Amino acid sequence: MPDKPVIILGIETSCDETAAAVVADGREVLSSVVASQTKLHEKYGGVVPEIASRAHIENIYPVIKEALEEAQVTKDHIDAIAVANQPGLTVALMVGVTMAKTLSFALNKPLIAINHIHAHMQSAIMAEKDVPLPAVALIVSGGHTSLYDYESPLEPKLLGSTTDDAAGEAFDKVAAILKLPYPGGPAIEKVAKNGNPKAVDFPRSMLGKDSLDFSFTGIKTAVLYYCQGQDMLGENKVEKMTQQEIADIAASFQAAVVDVLVRKTERAIQKIGAKTVLLGGGVAANTALREALAELCQSYKPPKRLLVAPKQYCTDNAVMVASLAYHKFEAGLFADLTLEPKASAEQLPNIAYKVK
Ligand code: KG4
Ligand code: ZN
Repeated sequence: MPDKPVIILGIETSCDETAAAVVADGREVLSSVVASQTKLHEKYGGVVPEIASRAHIENIYPVIKEALEEAQVTKDHIDAIAVANQPGLTVALMVGVTMAKTLSFALNKPLIAINHIHAHMQSAIMAEKDVPLPAVALIVSGGHTSLYDYESPLEPKLLGSTTDDAAGEAFDKVAAILKLPYPGGPAIEKVAKNGNPKAVDFPRSMLGKDSLDFSFTGIKTAVLYYCQGQDMLGENKVEKMTQQEIADIAASFQAAVVDVLVRKTERAIQKIGAKTVLLGGGVAANTALREALAELCQSYKPPKRLLVAPKQYCTDNAVMVASLAYHKFEAGLFADLTLEPKASAEQLPNIAYKVK
């Protein structure tokens, strides 16, 4: 008789998506429900924490209920409750953490704390069985841009991260400058398809010669000055621009960001002798980035393995939370009811809560 699968309910509320998922043995997705709040935040051009928190409170129960129904499981089938408790907006994380603690207590099921960025890495690797390690993990989202040395699934080590804006944040801000809709990443990608990526030579900030850190404020300011004059002292040209001019700026901006991400990943591969590259986070949905990284990986002899999160699991979801939680479950790494949300991430891998 095969062993009974480990079934985990995952909960994710770190930013503006209320999500719940049921995953068996860390890889079989039984359900995935995501209630997006984009409509609530778009008129502000970014996520408003208080609005996000209120929407999570309204959505969390129906989303979990739907995830359990879709998976056709009852509380008796669930082996553990997992929740992303860091990093993110504290008032948003608070909703998921409170719900997870309540369910853990009421149903008498173990609680597992998940680092949201670590979960983004898991979404790239969850479908694979034998991944050649070490790997470099590039996580690019609205809140984070980081490179990790992924020597083992539970202990990724930070190699570098953004010193200012995250890549997704730069996409969102540049989209706002170009008067494109929110969220900016998909909007820029769409118009960039018709643009010339070589039209404008935007700066590529590489920081020091060996640096694995990122900086994206410079390019954002360069786009702003390009559109509104040096120090914003000129007229705002965006309204008078043709669609082609907007497309050229979007394509040139996207090309510059992708270029930096790929060149930094190349440095990281070199540094740790990586055999595999993992790509996850909202910006990982970007086709230009996926193709450029594929090209980089193919340029090695032998080629590096590239594992990219499936598009539906690039942006925030709870599948990645429940999938990573399986590995913590197997390792006996549980949280208790003192679990709190944390705005900034503790350094990975110090996110394990060991049962005493
Ligand atoms: O991972 P995610 O859902 O949330 C955070 O953890 O931050 O990432 C959201 C970010 C947003 O900044 C959004 O503009 C960006 O991912 N994004 C994209 C694309 N789809 C989403 N950026 C570039 N190209 C895309 N296709
Ligand atoms: Zn995320």
